[in-house]
Amino acid sequence: DWTMQAYRDQAVQAIRDQVGDARVLCALSGGVDSSVTAALIHEAIGDQLTCVFVDHGLLRKNEAQEVVEMFRDHMNLSVIHADESDLFLTALEGVSDPEQKRKTIGKLFIDVFEKHAHAIGGADFLAQGTLYPDVIESVSFSGGPSVTIKSHHNVGGLPEKMGMKLVEPLRELFKDEVRALGRELGLPAHFIGRHPFPGPGLAIRCPGEITRAKLEILREADAIFIDQIRKHGLYDEIWQAFVAILPVRTVGVMGDGRTYDYACALRAVTSVDGMTADYYPFAHDFLGETATRIINNVRGINRVTYDITSKPPGTIEWE
Ligand code: XMP
Repeated sequence: DWTMQAYRDQAVQAIRDQVGDARVLCALSGGVDSSVTAALIHEAIGDQLTCVFVDHGLLRKNEAQEVVEMFRDHMNLSVIHADESDLFLTALEGVSDPEQKRKTIGKLFIDVFEKHAHAIGGADFLAQGTLYPDVIESVSFSGGPSVTIKSHHNVGGLPEKMGMKLVEPLRELFKDEVRALGRELGLPAHFIGRHPFPGPGLAIRCPGEITRAKLEILREADAIFIDQIRKHGLYDEIWQAFVAILPVRTVGVMGDGRTYDYACALRAVTSVDGMTADYYPFAHDFLGETATRIINNVRGINRVTYDITSKPPGTIEWE
């Protein structure tokens, strides 16, 4: 794609001009935006870039290894894998309010990022995967009183606090252009096509109190659901799909015994930008097969439901 190639060359030059020989830090989330940001900046300034991947213990099955390996081995980037799950999960003990979860995670995320930034001697610049829609949204939202539905988790406020300047090489791009740029930079297709994953991770897919045991059950069920979606060739038709583990246990029967285990909800939606969404109309066979696979393979779940709420009035995530 010649336009993306030209954009890439121009963006690389702009980053070199802005940064000079200073160091840049990037919080890598594994999402498309931060991944493309990191790949582009790496192309421009190589080892002047250090990425920090904060593992809060709220990631999907195998997520941390996949992201870190991809960047270290495939892209040859310098990545710090900050395994801080104990810190986050301890702080979240007993917390069941959704906003309290988000605030706890957001604050710790910044603390951890800051700690690792200091440990490597700091940096003058912070890289962020801000897109064009984020830019317009933050300057032109002037109609009526604004209502915060959910406090989104990002590294906002951090640059000022740490005295860092921002590098935002995706500021002029829309999501589909970011994906095209990612392909141009050699990120693998399966990586670029990944569904979005929220910063607070599995915390907001585990309504009520979060425990390690529930997270483990959730990871297994979620991996089966995503595997089913891939197997049936539906992954690219869906904007986001995941399992939420419900804070309720129900009675079931397995073999000749009674079970008393968690219920879970499958969630899958189509969307253009995440602002509105429709539930995905799976075939009943697909749903039945998925429920059977989850119940037969995940100890701790004995009931599977499908969430057929669109957005609005629902939100995509459960919290
Ligand atoms: P909701 O649940 O508000 O989600 O309909 C809309 C989109 O935003 C994602 N999401 C988040 N992403 N930090 C993020 O980076 C967050 O705190 C957060 N909360 C929701 C959600 O996964 C969906 O794509």
